[in-house]
Order: sequence, then structure tokens, then C-alpha cells
Amino acid sequence: MTKYLRNTWYVAAESTEVANDDLFARRILNEPVVIYRLEDGSPVALRDRCPHRYLALSMGKKVGDTVQCGYHGMVFDKTGSCIEIPTQDTIPETAYTKSYPIVEKYNFLWIWMGDIEKADESLIPDFSTVTKGSTYDFRTADKHPQQWGYKYVRGNYQLMVDNLLDLSHVGFVHTSTLGSEESTRQHASGEQKQTGRIVSDYRLAVDVESPPAFAMMLPHLKKVDFWLDMHCSSPCNFLIEFGVTEPGKPREEGGPFTGFHILTPETEDTCHYYYGSTLQIDGISDEPIKKLGEAAVIAFDEDLVIIEAQQKEIQGGKFDDESMVALRADKAALMARRLLTQLIKEEEDSKERENDAIAKIA
Ligand code: FES
Ligand SMILES: [Fe+2]
Repeated sequence: MTKYLRNTWYVAAESTEVANDDLFARRILNEPVVIYRLEDGSPVALRDRCPHRYLALSMGKKVGDTVQCGYHGMVFDKTGSCIEIPTQDTIPETAYTKSYPIVEKYNFLWIWMGDIEKADESLIPDFSTVTKGSTYDFRTADKHPQQWGYKYVRGNYQLMVDNLLDLSHVGFVHTSTLGSEESTRQHASGEQKQTGRIVSDYRLAVDVESPPAFAMMLPHLKKVDFWLDMHCSSPCNFLIEFGVTEPGKPREEGGPFTGFHILTPETEDTCHYYYGSTLQIDGISDEPIKKLGEAAVIAFDEDLVIIEAQQKEIQGGKFDDESMVALRADKAALMARRLLTQLIKEEEDSKERENDAIAKIA
């Protein structure tokens, strides 16, 4: 059974997915959640389950700042408390549903599935460099095109974490878009490091044939230095910087991208996957950029084929089975797993200490 880190921020939805009159339903860490906006636009997240007969609240309707259950009409406010029962005047103490801290930042709605009193907005990873409306740029970012997307993944989120932290698959899975075996062999000797809650994986291939997607945009560059720097903010929010430049030239002269990969566990076997990137090259016409966007989607679909096949094979088993062979290229993925195991353990220990303290008082 997958253990999740709970005291952390997960992306519950993209801002635009939750419209003003909507009740948006999503399962996160195996819990049903309904998200909606108050009249002033601020987001609310509640457990998507009416405490009366367990109908999903998202099947009801939004009434002003409240949600009315679609079965017998109980009304809940933004804290999850029932404030009205159409058929009686008294409200039982147990008539409430759970509420979750939720914050809108970087065009996403970030949800905290853990202890409410520990929700700390400063722990939301810094995605200012890639999100829509960002003013970031190497040079003049806001005029550069951005490509965003969402995929529903039929695989445990840890499989995607492994995938993103071991980009030695690029030369084998994404041969038509991002990689070649030649660059993969060089990328294998990259560096990995952990800084606080972030695991970084740096890969550089020097003087290799330009990957197909870059060759399309920058046809004058036959040979390139090709870098992929991935940063995983534990447990599953990633920033990536990648690009190519003429061999030996500084990165700023090449074609740098900044991108993000955001995973949110849905169930043991499925996750939500948001991706996007900002292209920071001047003077490229629309057509190759459009093609590049299409190539990115092809590449993500190629990953999903692998993930879903792994999930089928692993079904019910462990993702860190000791019989799995560990390779040099897995180093960042293994660092991320160790970090996550440690964070989950710390969370459990602190819960245990709190429970012990409560037991002593009682
Ligand atoms: S199930 Fe919601 S009011 Fe009865
Ligand atoms: Fe991939």
C-alpha cells in the first residue's frame, strides 16, 4: 500500500479548471475532494462526501459561498460545517465534512492534505519561472511561447518520478523528438545532489548530434552541447531546464527551455500529470514551435506507454522491490526515494509523539 507524504502541497487543479459556478471533483491521495470558488473568487476544498448518506457533494450545487447536497439538501459552508438541514432545525454535531487548506499560486490550486495547522504557504515550490503570466526570463520571457498540458496517467506517481529523474530513457524512448543513444551515453555520467527537499539531476552531452526537436528549430546547429537539468521538489513537483547550444558556447546563446512536470497522486494506480514549458529563443517562427509542442505531446505519450506497462506488471507489488537492479543512472531517483521515505517517517514519528502527548493529558 502506498504511503503518501501528507504535510506538503499538491496541485489539485489548474486555476482555469475551477470556474466560478463549478463544483470541481477530483480524487487526491485516494480521497474525494470537491473544489469551488467563493463569490470573491477564492478557492475552497472540501471532502467530496456528504456526511448524511455519502453522496458526492460535487453532484449537488453551489449556492453563494456554500454547497448544497444534491440528495436531501443539506448545506455546507467553506469550513465544511453544515449550516442548514431543510427538514429540521437542529444540526447534529457530526454534520460536517472535512475542509482542506487550498492556495492559488502560479496558476495552480495547491492543496494541503495533511494537518491543517501545519499548512505553510512558504513550502509551495517556486514555479514562478514557468507559469503563465510569469515575468521571468533569461532575456524577455513574457513574449516567448508557452506550452501547457495535462495527462491522466494509469500508473502510480512513483513510476513517473523515476521516469523524470532518470532521463537516460530519453535516447531510447524519445528517439524521434528529444534524444539519441549517443547523447544518452554521455548523459549517464551526470551529477546528482540534494539540497533540502530538492533532488537535482544534471546531465550534459557534449558535441553530439542535435536532438530531432532542436534540429527542427535550430537547423544551423548540427552538433550541439545538450543539457538536461531536472529538479524534483519532494515528493513530485519538478522543474526542468534543458536546451542545446553550439558546442562550447554558453547556454544563454543556445535554446534554453524552462519547464515543469507536476504529479499528483490520485490513487495507488493512477495520477494526474501537468506539464508545460517556456521557450526562450528569439526569432523562431510559429511553425517549428507548433511542431515542437506536438513533439512534446508525442514524447509524453511515449512515457505513458512505458508507465502503464510497468504498472500492469507491478500491480499489487512494490515500486522499490529489492530484486530490481539498481543502475548508476538511477542515482537521483534513488536519492528522491530515500528523501521521501525519510519525510514520511518524520511525519509518522511526529504524529506518534503528538498522540502520545494527547494520551498522557487524557
Ligand atoms: S446524502 Fe446529502 S443530504 Fe442526504
Ligand atoms: Fe520521457
